[in-house]
Amino acid sequence: MSLTPKTDWNPETYARFRGLRLRPAFDLLAQVGQVPQGVVLDLGCGDGALAGALDVQFVDHATWGLDASPAMLAKAKGYDRLIEADAATWQTEEPLSLIFSNAALHWLPDHATLMPRLAAMLAPGGVLAVQMPRQYFAPSHRFLRDIAAALYPDRFDFARYEAPVHPAQAYWQMLSPLGDVQAWETEYLQRLDPVSDIHPVHAFTQSTAMRPFVEKMSEAEAAAYATAYDQALTSAYPLLPDGSCLMPFRRVFFTLRV
Ligand SMILES: C[S@@+](CC[C@H](N)C(=O)[O-])C[C@H]1O[C@@H](n2cnc3c(N)ncnc32)[C@H](O)[C@@H]1O
Repeated sequence: MSLTPKTDWNPETYARFRGLRLRPAFDLLAQVGQVPQGVVLDLGCGDGALAGALDVQFVDHATWGLDASPAMLAKAKGYDRLIEADAATWQTEEPLSLIFSNAALHWLPDHATLMPRLAAMLAPGGVLAVQMPRQYFAPSHRFLRDIAAALYPDRFDFARYEAPVHPAQAYWQMLSPLGDVQAWETEYLQRLDPVSDIHPVHAFTQSTAMRPFVEKMSEAEAAAYATAYDQALTSAYPLLPDGSCLMPFRRVFFTLRV
C-alpha cells in the first residue's frame, strides 16, 4: 500500500518528542527476554528509531522493518530488510522470533483478528510484543473528535474512529489461549516543552492523532480547527509558568510467548 503525500507521515514533526515516545518502547523491550532463532520484525517501524536497540538486544538475528509510510521508511536505517506493506494484511512464511510493535497497531482495527494472525507467524517460543497508546477518552484525543464533529458535522465517519485499543485485561483474555501473556498499562506523566505558537499538547498530537482529521480539511478549515483545539486544551492542560504543561498519557502493553 502506498500512501499519497497528503496522508503520509511527517518524520520531522513525529521525531520532535522522540524521548517521550521511545521510553515506552524500551519499557516493552525490557520485558521480551530470550527469543528463538528467526527474524526479528519491527512492525510499524516508522523512521527506524528502534533499529539499533533491537540489533543490540538480538545480535544474532536478522532484523526487518515494516511500515506503510514511504516517508518514514525513507528515514529508516539499520535493518537488514525494509518492507513497505500494510500490517493488517502482510504475511510471511519466514519463521519470526519476535514481532515488536511500538505505537503502531492502534492505527489498525479489529485486534481480536489481528493479534492472533500475527501470533501465527511466530516460531515456537517466539514473542509478540506490543505497546499502544490508550488515550482515546483523554481530553487530548477526545477534543479532536468533538471539535471536528462540531465544526464539520458531515465530514467524518465517526464509526471509523471507535477506540481500537482495549484495556490490558482484554488482551490477556484474547491471547492467553495462545501462550504465556503478560499485559499491563502505564500512565506516563509527560512534561511537554513550551512551543511558541500552539499549545504543547497540540504540538504532540499534530503529527499523530490529529492527522486523520486535518487531512480532510482545507487550510482555512484546519486553521479554525486548530484554534478551537488550542483553546480547549488550555483549560484541560493548563500551562505551567514556563509555558510547558503536564500531559498524562496512558499506554497498554503486552507480550505473548507462543
Ligand atoms: C507512531 S509511529 C511509531 C513508529 C515506531 N514504531 C517508533 O516507535 O518510533 C506509527 C507508525 O505506524 C505506521 N503504520 C500505521 N498504520 C500502519 C499499517 N496499517 N501498516 C504498517 N504500518 C503502519 C505508520 O506509518 C508510522 O510509521
